[in-house]
Amino acid sequence: KEVDIDPEAYDAGEHDSFMHKELLEQPACAEAVLRGRLDERFGTGHLGGLNLDARELRAIRRVKILGCGSAYYVGQMGASLIEELARIPADAEAASEFRYRNPIVEPDTLYVAVSQSGETIDTLLAVQEIQRKGGRVIGLVNVVGSAIARQVDGGIYLHSGPEVAVASTKALTNMFLAFGMLAVQLGRVRDLSIADGKRLIAGLTRIPEQIDQVLATEADLALVAKRLAEAESLFFIGRVRGFPVAREGAQKFKEITYRHAEAYQTSELKHGPLALISPEVPTVAIVPDDELVERNVAALHEIAARGGPLVVITHESVDLGDLEGIVAGRIDVPRNERELDPILLTIPLQVLAYHAALELGHDIDKPRNLAKSVTVE
Ligand code: AGP
Repeated sequence: KEVDIDPEAYDAGEHDSFMHKELLEQPACAEAVLRGRLDERFGTGHLGGLNLDARELRAIRRVKILGCGSAYYVGQMGASLIEELARIPADAEAASEFRYRNPIVEPDTLYVAVSQSGETIDTLLAVQEIQRKGGRVIGLVNVVGSAIARQVDGGIYLHSGPEVAVASTKALTNMFLAFGMLAVQLGRVRDLSIADGKRLIAGLTRIPEQIDQVLATEADLALVAKRLAEAESLFFIGRVRGFPVAREGAQKFKEITYRHAEAYQTSELKHGPLALISPEVPTVAIVPDDELVERNVAALHEIAARGGPLVVITHESVDLGDLEGIVAGRIDVPRNERELDPILLTIPLQVLAYHAALELGHDIDKPRNLAKSVTVE
C-alpha cells in the first residue's frame, strides 16, 4: 500500500533537530504500530501481514533475527521476548556477518529481517541468502515499498513515519512493539495462556502513554546528560533483558557525542572491565525491578567503591540503599509487564544521548562519518 508523503514530516518545525522532533513523536508512532493489531478478547496479536496461519506459526521451531546496528540490538530484545513468551529458541545476529559464515538455513526456522530504511545492503543480502537456501523471511520494516520490504515473504510495517535523523529512535521503538505483538501471537498458538496474553496486550496498550511520561522528564535528563558529556569514556551496563538496552544506549551515545561508550553485561564487569572504572569513567546502569535487582545493585556497589560515577535507569520501587546519596543521577521509568520493560528503559538513554550531543555542540542529525542508510557493502 502506498503512503501519502506529508511535507511536514520533512520539516523539523520548532525543534532544533529532527532527532528531537522524532523523540517526541514516539507516543503517537507507538500508537500507530499497535493500531488494529491487538486482539484484546483473545489476548493475542493480529498480524495479518505475516502470511502465516496458526498451523504454520505453530510449526516454527526456532527464530533467527537479523539486523544491523541498532536494529540488531532491538533484535536481541525481540529474541528475549520470543523466548520468554513463546518458549521458542530465538537469537539475533548482525546481518553484516551472517552470509559470510555459510549459515545453516532450516525449514522450520522463522527468519526475521529488521530494518528502518529497508535498504541496508547487509540485511538485504542476508535475506536473499536465506531465501536462496529455501528459508522463509518476514520483515520488520518502516519504509513502505523499500528493497527489503519487497524481498521478504511477509512482515509487519512499523508505521513510524519518515525518520530523518541518522540516530534512529521512533523506528526502533516500533520495532520493539512489533516484536512484542509477534511474540504474543507466537506464544498464543503454543502455551501462553489467554490470561497472560491479555496481560501482555494490556501492557502493550499502556506503552505509548508511558513513553510520554518518560519524555516529560526531559529537563531532568538534560541535567544528567550535561554531566555525562564531560566524560571521555563511559560504560553502559545491563544484564539479560537489560543488556541489549545497554548496547543500544552506548550505540546512541557514541553515534552523536563521539564519546567512547561501551556496553557490558553487568555480570561481566569483574571479568575485566572493572579495571577501567575510575572517577573519570561514569557508568550508566540499567537496573529494572526484576529477578536480578539485588545482583545489579551489588554490582553498583563495586563500581561506587572504585569511585566510578553512577547514573541509574531504574524503577521507583528499587531501593538503592546507601547508594541513593551518591548516585550522579537516578531516572525512574514507569513499570509495565517485566517482559516489556526494555523499551521504557531505552527511551531515557535516547534523551541522554541527544542532550549530551547538544551540550557538545555537535550536528545531531548528521553525525560525522555516518549515513542514514548503508546501501553499499
Ligand atoms: C541507529 O541509530 C544507527 N544509525 C544504525 O545503527 C542503524 O540502526 C543501522 O544502520 C540499520 O539501519 P536500518 O534500520 O535502516 O537497516
